[in-house]
Amino acid sequence: MLFPPGEFAKIKEHLIIYTCALKNISMRFDILLEDFSNFHIYNPIEHIKTRVKSPESIAEKLHRQNFPITAENARKYLTDIAGMRCICSYAKDIAYIADVLRQQPDITVLSEKDYVTKPKPSGYRSYHLILEVPIYLTDRAECLPVEVQIRTQAMDFWASLEHKVKYKYKNKMPEHISSELVECAEKIADLDNRMYLIQEIVDMAYLHKDATVDRIFNSR
Ligand code: GTP
Ligand code: MG
Repeated sequence: MLFPPGEFAKIKEHLIIYTCALKNISMRFDILLEDFSNFHIYNPIEHIKTRVKSPESIAEKLHRQNFPITAENARKYLTDIAGMRCICSYAKDIAYIADVLRQQPDITVLSEKDYVTKPKPSGYRSYHLILEVPIYLTDRAECLPVEVQIRTQAMDFWASLEHKVKYKYKNKMPEHISSELVECAEKIADLDNRMYLIQEIVDMAYLHKDATVDRIFNSR
């Protein structure tokens, strides 16, 4: 992708504040982890990944959307320059984590996409939020968008494989592979539910120290 003169450097410099936005949201997750591990029955967050979009991907996305490649347009039109992925233990944790974030008073939710209950035709499942977080610099405060994707480990496993396959076929995936991927995504959703049920039953047994729960489990 060809950058107009001076824009590559400007975009690179511009990325620094997005790194700050990711630090802001990462710190919130660190605090949630402390809370979950000390005051809750279990911690639903398996791990967190963050990334800042590269200047090349920024240019490619602006070009795809017919905007001139400038730092100003990146700021104005792209909401996924700062990205975070939160990997949860179970599918039902996804809505809960989204709710916990939504309730933080200094976060503004710009948009939400529920690909968990409404998966994409590809089979992709995840919950997406575009959040606006405040950052405080020496001379000003700024509110920056961060794309948060919340999904289970199984959904993440599927998404990374599908991404690699899509990349290999340069978006012209053969029909038999795309339908195989859709089927895998459905099986993964079923597995996610079954794993959650096991966890619920075990939790119940642990909480109530109830031998009858063990009997139900053994009789399945
Ligand atoms: P992008 O231009 O890709 O950012 O898409 P968008 O702005 O229309 O938003 P959308 O919510 O569809 O996708 C945002 C991000 O979610 C993507 O950049 C991917 O990381 C992920 N994603 C969305 N759809 C798929 C999919 O079918 N497969 C995989 N592997 N990831 C997906
Ligand atoms: Mg994106």
